Amino acid sequence: MQLSNRTLLANFTKELAFFQQMVNGENSARILLLEAPPGYGKTKLISKLIDITKEYNSSKSKVITIDLKTVIDVPYLFNDICEVIGVDFFPNFTTCITNLLNSQTANISDNKTLGSLNVQIIQTVLDENKFTQANKLIKLQESFLHDLGNLNQQLIFFLDTFETVGTDLGTWIDGVFLKAVVHKTNWLVVIAGQKVPSLDNIIWGNQAEKICLDLELINCETEWYKFSQSVGWPFSQDAIKMLIRVLKGKSPKLIRESLEVLAKDWEK
Ligand SMILES: Nc1ncnc2c1ncn2[C@@H]1O[C@H](COP(=O)(O)OP(=O)(O)O)[C@@H](O)[C@H]1O
Ligand SMILES: [Mg+2]
Repeated sequence: MQLSNRTLLANFTKELAFFQQMVNGENSARILLLEAPPGYGKTKLISKLIDITKEYNSSKSKVITIDLKTVIDVPYLFNDICEVIGVDFFPNFTTCITNLLNSQTANISDNKTLGSLNVQIIQTVLDENKFTQANKLIKLQESFLHDLGNLNQQLIFFLDTFETVGTDLGTWIDGVFLKAVVHKTNWLVVIAGQKVPSLDNIIWGNQAEKICLDLELINCETEWYKFSQSVGWPFSQDAIKMLIRVLKGKSPKLIRESLEVLAKDWEK
């Protein structure tokens, strides 16, 4: 697999190369954690990793992209993943949902449909007392992971905005999900956020790599010159050098926006 030549982002060479090795099994990492402050390009980088996977690995790998800021709690994550992959691949999970539904007083006719219906049952589960809730969650989790494990394909999970998760969801990802990932040889996960799960974990810590996006590297003048050329901005190499120096210490988001505004003026 060769890296895409499309220069959608300034730099990230190191991160792209590491991910490529991960997918090819050329390093032992199964979990990639990308940490950086807002505007450093985490979401953009994830989009690029997804593009690369789809371009070079689409037959081999299934991409599951989740923006965690839209996920309220653990069962909702099951639901989202189910919808991405296809409900038909989750027979045990569907049965578990059906059984839970049947044990509720709510009169819901088509209990095979996921989506809004599932959210309804999930909400009922979450409304219960802690003990019943935990029991039901464990059953949902077992059936969900069982079905997911039966998929005969490499699964690559991209979880963005980890800093937004609540305690329960954060603990589940850290404690249950990442543990499952290291046990399933054909699963890989990339987690990005202003904060990410701590590497200090006896179960999966040694199979994870944490990369803190480095402002110095991202804001390298030659990289921004290449980027500027690729998007057709009129700056010379010297002009970029000067502008990047003036914008030193600013986030890539701010640099890009500033260059964009300047590029428009430059042409006048
Ligand atoms: N390395 C980069 N090269 C070019 N533009 C970038 C880069 N990093 C960030 N940007 C710009 O900053 C914006 C915000 O990036 P984003 O990926 O949303 O950051 P984060 O997810 O870290 O908050 C992007 O839409 C893009 O325009
Ligand atoms: Mg983001």
